[in-house]
Amino acid sequence: MNEEGRSTGLRPGNGATPDPQGVHDPVLPPLEARSLVRTFVGGNGSELRVLRGVDLRVHVGEAVSVTGASGAGKSTLLHLLGALDRPTAGEIFVDGTPLSGLDDESVCRIRNHHVGFVFQFHHLLRDFTALENVMMPRLIAGRTRPEAEDGARRLLESVGLGQRLEHRPRQLSGGEQQRVAVARALANDPVVLLADEPSGNLDRRTSEQLHDLLFQLKDDHDLAMVLVTHNRALAARADRVMQLDNGILGEGEGSL
Ligand SMILES: Nc1ncnc2c1ncn2[C@@H]1O[C@H](COP(=O)(O)OP(=O)(O)O)[C@@H](O)[C@H]1O
Ligand SMILES: [Mg+2]
Repeated sequence: MNEEGRSTGLRPGNGATPDPQGVHDPVLPPLEARSLVRTFVGGNGSELRVLRGVDLRVHVGEAVSVTGASGAGKSTLLHLLGALDRPTAGEIFVDGTPLSGLDDESVCRIRNHHVGFVFQFHHLLRDFTALENVMMPRLIAGRTRPEAEDGARRLLESVGLGQRLEHRPRQLSGGEQQRVAVARALANDPVVLLADEPSGNLDRRTSEQLHDLLFQLKDDHDLAMVLVTHNRALAARADRVMQLDNGILGEGEGSL
């Protein structure tokens, strides 16, 4: 299922050559966070400790939902896990690679190649077609145009948009836009899929279709998936439901 046999060689048993720098630990799961702390400094210099020591392991094919009150730090956590932000303290391993020692360029590479991100709002490029939006990360990752297009086409077909390749975002429904965003998140065959309120902007029926799709793709691509959601039905579908409360992530349903 994994395109190019996970050319990174970071996973056990994939037959790829080991990482030459030897920084990857093949026994680690696709996503692990240890003792994550994230502090923000407010305008008046006061410290806001949003995450106070978060631990999380997400295995191949596993879905974890993260619930919690608004402002609890769910998006902050997801941004750290997806290497969009750096922790104040603690360590994150993505596909066995510890992020803390990496320079910005290497972090960028990890993010582009190993992590897919779906936000509440699709953030598609408005002047580009669905196909071009999904091709973009593949081109940035260095694929040739035919390779980028071929993979993007297949991904859009797999999310049920094979007939919408040339549509621009405004010509698509909200559910379709979000499915393009999901296809784009998978453009570089990531091991980790992170979704922050992915159906927060959709009606109930469309939300359910999106949830079905996310879980189908998780299974098809062996993804380690973390879902931040207020949607009770979506949270409950995960293998584990976690609650972020007072900066600590624990088992159990938070306020949904
Ligand atoms: N870049 C930032 N600078 C300062 N404070 C921030 C920043 N990002 C988030 N926060 C604060 O951190 C807290 C958690 O925010 P967030 O992670 O967005 O919560 P959630 O996603 O659970 O609603 C909030 O109090 C928010 O104001
Ligand atoms: Mg949020």
